[in-house]
Amino acid sequence: MKVFSLLLLLASGGVAADLTGNWVINNPLPDGTDRRTYLDLKQEGDRVTGHIRVTQFYYTVTESKPESGGFTLTGTLQDGKIQRHATYQVKLAGDELHVSTRRRPDLPPTEMVAHRAPPGEGAMPARLPLPALHKVAYNGLAKTPPMGWNSWNKFASRVDDAGVRASADAIASNGMKDAGYLYVNIDDTWEAGRDAQGNIQTNKKFPDMKALADYVHSKGLKLGIYSSPGPNTCAGYEGSYGHEEQDAKTYAKWGIDYLKYDWCGARNIYQPEEMQALYQKMGDALIASGRKIVYSLCQYGLDDVWKWGPDVGGNLWRTTGDIHDSWASMSKIGFNQSDIAQFAGPGHWNDPDMLEIGNSGMTDTEYKSHMSLWSILAAPLLAGNDLQHMSPEILAILTNREVIAIDQDSLGKQGTRVSQSSDTQIWSRDLADGSKAIGLFNLGSDSAQVSLKWADLAYKTAPLHVRDLWLHKDLKLDGPEYNATVPSHGVLMLRVHE
Ligand code: GLA
Repeated sequence: MKVFSLLLLLASGGVAADLTGNWVINNPLPDGTDRRTYLDLKQEGDRVTGHIRVTQFYYTVTESKPESGGFTLTGTLQDGKIQRHATYQVKLAGDELHVSTRRRPDLPPTEMVAHRAPPGEGAMPARLPLPALHKVAYNGLAKTPPMGWNSWNKFASRVDDAGVRASADAIASNGMKDAGYLYVNIDDTWEAGRDAQGNIQTNKKFPDMKALADYVHSKGLKLGIYSSPGPNTCAGYEGSYGHEEQDAKTYAKWGIDYLKYDWCGARNIYQPEEMQALYQKMGDALIASGRKIVYSLCQYGLDDVWKWGPDVGGNLWRTTGDIHDSWASMSKIGFNQSDIAQFAGPGHWNDPDMLEIGNSGMTDTEYKSHMSLWSILAAPLLAGNDLQHMSPEILAILTNREVIAIDQDSLGKQGTRVSQSSDTQIWSRDLADGSKAIGLFNLGSDSAQVSLKWADLAYKTAPLHVRDLWLHKDLKLDGPEYNATVPSHGVLMLRVHE
């Protein structure tokens, strides 16, 4: 026996135990679901191969290094043009696999214990064939950019039934509904698994989705939900993969009015060029459900989505990665939307992501710039803050009717950049009544003079009617140029008419 162990030790290059097998780390969440990470590994001597499946990612083990009685494994995922990596230290201890990984290099390692799982459990589902492309009929919705609230930016996985009801109550009573905010949207983390018939289940946080929809509807508002074309959502919950029609029917039965459909786990099975067919699948399913459901595509602007978004029945599509509550993130996204303006129009909008107004990472001046820019961009206005605890200043920014009127203008023509200097930019948007919205932005860290040459906007001289949309005041201007002082990261937002 001793000799046999020694031989095994030598044969495996100093690593005695064999960690071949399917391993699962079970992390029960407070919402009653399990977050499972699978390591399906094969050890041959001092080499380990296999796959690691964690939340939305499915890595192939591309490197293994024997180290301190175990292995360091590197998983690689080719995600479109990006290569993603994850590193795991694994070590056999009896019949347990001790696993250590760093979610981010600056964080301490997370230590976990994996147990043996039946072979095949947690495997990535097989690739399903894609439908041939065709045009999905327009659902007639979102003639102006959708307005409402979404749970993710503030609450992430803390969203629950009570929080959604409270947000609906707030919108219905604080003036937001009257200002046009309509959709109350649940983002990721509401899902549980599926029942024996494959029906999607809600987790403990959402005991009765139909009752919740009824409640939101009773306030004169609409309810939105979230899913993914992949097997998993971004937070690792159940996606709609292979269940598109069934899920669309379930949403219709519950009374859902809006679906945000997030690429996430689909990246493990399909290439970005194949997205259109997958998004079309859900577009068809929503139409077939018989309920009018706004269709929001979320795939971070990959594969020039603005060129095919309307063909799959999309009412809006994200044009960028996730926004964060900082001037750097908001301004980087917002000021980079000019080139795709032509693709927006009634029924189908570019979506530079949800609002961060009121989440505390920016000043009120910066939030006014955020609101102004999003309105010039004809962007969906989905508040992303805690509506129950916001300052009167934040509420005033979110409900500025004159700025919202720009966003909701019926012509539906997205604004563009007219001119820029090192730190300042001028944007303008044509409006249905022949007037223009103009934003004078200062991106610099000191207050600055912004010079607006009326000729740049095809006016000979200052238009007769000039209204400051934040001061709610008419201005009397003349001459070929207007020089305004704009605070750092601030905006002067005008509506002008000859
Ligand atoms: C992605 C989306 C976000 C949010 C999260 C939820 O990151 O871009 O807006 O929906 O997923 O997991």
